[in-house]
Amino acid sequence: MARTLFRHARLLDETVDLLWDHGVVAVAGPGTLTARAGDVLVDGGLLTPPFAEPHVHLDAALLGARAPNVSGTLREGISNWSRLREDLTADDVAARATATLAMYRSWGVLRWRTHVDTGSNVAVDALLSLRATTPGLQVVAFPQEGILRAPGRRDGWERAVRGGCDAVGAIPHFERTTEEGWESVRLAFRLARELGLGVDLHCDETDDPGSRNLEVVCAETLAGGVPHVVAGHCTAMHSYPDPYAARVCELVATSGVQVVCNPLDNVVLQGRYDGYPKRRGLTRVDELWAAGAIVGVGHDSVMDPWYRLGTANLLDAAYMLVHVGHLTSEAEMKRVVRCLHTENHLPWGRPPTVGVGVTELLHWAVADEVELLRLRPRPAVFVA
Ligand code: FE2
Repeated sequence: MARTLFRHARLLDETVDLLWDHGVVAVAGPGTLTARAGDVLVDGGLLTPPFAEPHVHLDAALLGARAPNVSGTLREGISNWSRLREDLTADDVAARATATLAMYRSWGVLRWRTHVDTGSNVAVDALLSLRATTPGLQVVAFPQEGILRAPGRRDGWERAVRGGCDAVGAIPHFERTTEEGWESVRLAFRLARELGLGVDLHCDETDDPGSRNLEVVCAETLAGGVPHVVAGHCTAMHSYPDPYAARVCELVATSGVQVVCNPLDNVVLQGRYDGYPKRRGLTRVDELWAAGAIVGVGHDSVMDPWYRLGTANLLDAAYMLVHVGHLTSEAEMKRVVRCLHTENHLPWGRPPTVGVGVTELLHWAVADEVELLRLRPRPAVFVA
């Protein structure tokens, strides 16, 4: 196996030389390394750890063409999916999930957290089986149609959690009443504490400023006993009155809850009940950052009933985020790109770095992170 010698490569804010030798980084640092006969030489470019996808739905991926979303709303997506769900087979779920993971890998994404709809035992069992042979894959028990709003939903959700999912999901804004939404959050935390699991909810994915489940998630997190808590979407925050939003951002930061935004889906799913002007379907990333909160960036859908488009390239999600979130200063764009290999990894624990002994590495043929965002190319993926 030839060695690969990277020279004058960009690594965060430094220029380094780095030697990839038989599946591991052997040398890394400033200064010039000497090549030997047979080495592959790569001059310049950008080095990063692998990216991580904190929020995707592999059970629904690649199904969008079978049930086009005419209204473009979240609710029609859920309705279309509930019909498709009846015809799922284990082989079909596994095949689409495997194909989608291959797409992700080609873009340098080597960790995935999929939400699986616990309304389908077929999907749950298929993705848990796939996890057994797919290092880096986590499965969240996600009750797409709520825990309390329909008979039998709670049983399927609990079956999935107790069957070995990595984290407990919920969808409080989709329950019938505000009180039932809050109760579903508390049920999720109670189950997570009992089993020592994390919590990862779809939280306040609506334009309704009265959707206020995130504060309950934060309060439950502060009560302790749950190792890692993620609140996905949180788009209602976009429409909260500013004083309330400020309080919630502070609470998110204090509690350590990680907010994962999903800009590709939410920029098209939200604002659908608005005339003009139409609201942007995005949580307040700038204000969360300012408060000291932890943010992640998900792709969410890959050609599914909610979002017909999608490439599985997380840089596309980052690209949408900087546009819709007005995060286009040099520092903000760099921070968004770095989220993909730092905060996005937190559901798996400590984010990876690039240094001696590392066995996963991406090389991008661009000068810096702003160019990475602008061009969104494929990386060269180095894995042991
Ligand atoms: Fe989602």
